[in-house]
Amino acid sequence: MDLAALCGYFCCGCGIACLLSVALYLTPIIYLTLIAKPQDFRKKYGAWAVVTGGSSGIGKAVTRKLASQGVNVCIVALDDDLLRITHTELQKEFPSVELRAVPVDLGSEPDAYMAKIATATEDVRVSILINNAGFLLMGFFDQRPMEQHIANIECNALAAMRLTHYFYNRMVNQNIKGCITFTSSAAFFMPAPFASMYGATKAMISQFAVSLALEANSQGIDITVFHPSYTHSNLYAKTPKLDVVTFLSKFGWTPEDVANVIFASAGRVVVRDMGVYAIATNMLSRYIDSGSLAKFIMPFVESMAPPGAIAERGKKEN
Ligand SMILES: NC(=O)c1ccc[n+]([C@@H]2O[C@H](COP(=O)([O-])OP(=O)(O)OC[C@H]3O[C@@H](n4cnc5c(N)ncnc54)[C@H](OP(=O)(O)O)[C@@H]3O)[C@@H](O)[C@H]2O)c1
Repeated sequence: MDLAALCGYFCCGCGIACLLSVALYLTPIIYLTLIAKPQDFRKKYGAWAVVTGGSSGIGKAVTRKLASQGVNVCIVALDDDLLRITHTELQKEFPSVELRAVPVDLGSEPDAYMAKIATATEDVRVSILINNAGFLLMGFFDQRPMEQHIANIECNALAAMRLTHYFYNRMVNQNIKGCITFTSSAAFFMPAPFASMYGATKAMISQFAVSLALEANSQGIDITVFHPSYTHSNLYAKTPKLDVVTFLSKFGWTPEDVANVIFASAGRVVVRDMGVYAIATNMLSRYIDSGSLAKFIMPFVESMAPPGAIAERGKKEN
């Protein structure tokens, strides 16, 4: 066979592989968006759920949807007015379900928050765990104290792992058909300069969830990890305004959009990307490895830095 024919076969093979990869990826998304019926979590999984970060944004929208289906919810979030207001508001809206507010800091001492959550749920059969709490630290990695990075890892990743270990064991011991979800992020697919710890925590839970989903299947426990694109919520309330984030916000989803996708997809797929950014970056990551991408982005990074961060670095150096 001559070289030209060999190149032709090679290109053909690559084209077919690309098409198959895209079709395999997009088919479930299209099916879940256009065809699949919404699921009733009370009927499918049971009467009690734990939602972390349920006081605002995506977690609040998920809690409202659960309550609307007759699921009782333990709302785990920071001990602040947001939790109290959300708890009162949703309890008034859904008087026939029981909503429990569990005020804890998931970025702090794990024994303390685990004990509080265990006590709040000891008398009920929890069959739904929504690992959703998270926060975003933005800026150069070196410009934040180590304790803040550790708290970020604890809240975004380790708390989800600890709670999953605890409730997964309870579900298995009580022979419950359960559901555990993780709100990861599209930030997982790409290098995340100025949010390096955030990206790393999301990578951890995405990888953890995919592996656990395989183990959990034989126990009757559904595991699904979600990668939302930009969603309008309090997540960015205290972060500097990056141009790229401002641009992405133009295509942002509402927390209710995200909650609807969670209800359509949980237990039906292992991973669900939501929104154009998540889908586009997932596809891109199949063709460009993260090292090459990092090299490509490197010359532009300083121009993308949060306002004030470069000046602060200059001050330190002088
Ligand atoms: N918004 C987006 O564009 C986007 C995109 C992809 C993924 N996500 C992920 O979606 C999840 C929900 O975020 P969101 O957008 O709905 O933001 P949000 O409105 O800020 O909600 C975050 C929730 O987590 C709680 N929380 C934060 N730190 C906590 C801590 N240390 N201990 C206990 N609870 C804590 C918050 O409680 P308080 O309200 O009391 O602070 C709040 O209930 C996060 O994991 C986030 O990373 C968001």
